[in-house]
Amino acid sequence: MVEIEKLKQELKDLNAKAAGIRDLPVEQRAEFGRKINLERQDLLGKIAAAEKALLDVEVQPIDVTAWSGVNEKMPEFYTTEMGTCHPLMAEMDRVVEIYQLMGFDVMESRQLDDEYHMFDTLNFPKEHPARDGYDTFRTEEGLIPPAHTSTMQHRVLKKYRKQLEERGRLAVVVPGRVFRNEDVDATHEHTFYQCEGVYVSQDCSMGQMLGILREFFEKYYEQKLNIRTQPGYFPFTEPSLEFMIEKPESLGGKKGDYLEMLGCGMIHPNVLKQAGIDPEKYHGFAWGGGIDRLVMLRYGLNDVRMFESGNLNFLREF
Ligand code: DAH
Repeated sequence: MVEIEKLKQELKDLNAKAAGIRDLPVEQRAEFGRKINLERQDLLGKIAAAEKALLDVEVQPIDVTAWSGVNEKMPEFYTTEMGTCHPLMAEMDRVVEIYQLMGFDVMESRQLDDEYHMFDTLNFPKEHPARDGYDTFRTEEGLIPPAHTSTMQHRVLKKYRKQLEERGRLAVVVPGRVFRNEDVDATHEHTFYQCEGVYVSQDCSMGQMLGILREFFEKYYEQKLNIRTQPGYFPFTEPSLEFMIEKPESLGGKKGDYLEMLGCGMIHPNVLKQAGIDPEKYHGFAWGGGIDRLVMLRYGLNDVRMFESGNLNFLREF
């Protein structure tokens, strides 16, 4: 660097000296100019070479994660193992991929929401006791860590409304982390995961919805399944259903062992209307269900608390 600065200063001095040409007798000017030019070429060449040399310097990459105690023993708490994807995240990717292969778009949920999206846009009447059924946490500011991924339905409908008009249908899944103020035990967690599905078109039907759900579960568990539904109640669907699958023998089930996997139904006209979609023209169905439960059945796990435990022995099994 110093070298370049020095050369540049010399070039400046040379230029200043060149200005003196005007004070010379005419017959000396040509020779003076020629000498100055030669010196200038020489200096410019040196500057270019010095700059190039600067760029060619080999830079040693720094590994900021490297243990720097050269001759010391690695401390016990420094594990040399590679980290891995959390089993829930890996399964979530699998879930989303199955829906993507069926043509669904994906929109991620959020971890903080408000009363408007959690209840108002989902046709929960104001002050209705159903609002209490979701064991919601609240921040001091009155915000809500969402208790279900349905909190995203209004956003999905609004965001994909244009696509619905252009393509005649809207198909989106929403994976997300959800929170409920519940006592924790082997089957209940305050923090868990859900995946929501939303489908709207002019002529969709409950039959189509059950077909999509069956397809999903059969892909996920890699086998044919028996399914069953029973009536349910959700303010945002009418009619509402609970969707069940018969626990496969290969996963420790026996005949007639039905497990409830998710809630679903035809989207209530008020929910469509509130998002600016004409319920006279369009119909939709939606569903939402827990991922943790899905994964527990697949791997024969019996304690949901393991997922959030950070227990390495458990995590290493995957
Ligand atoms: N959000 C509901 C829950 O967590 C599940 C659900 C039911 C989602 C019906 C839906 C639906 O989209 O249509 O209990």
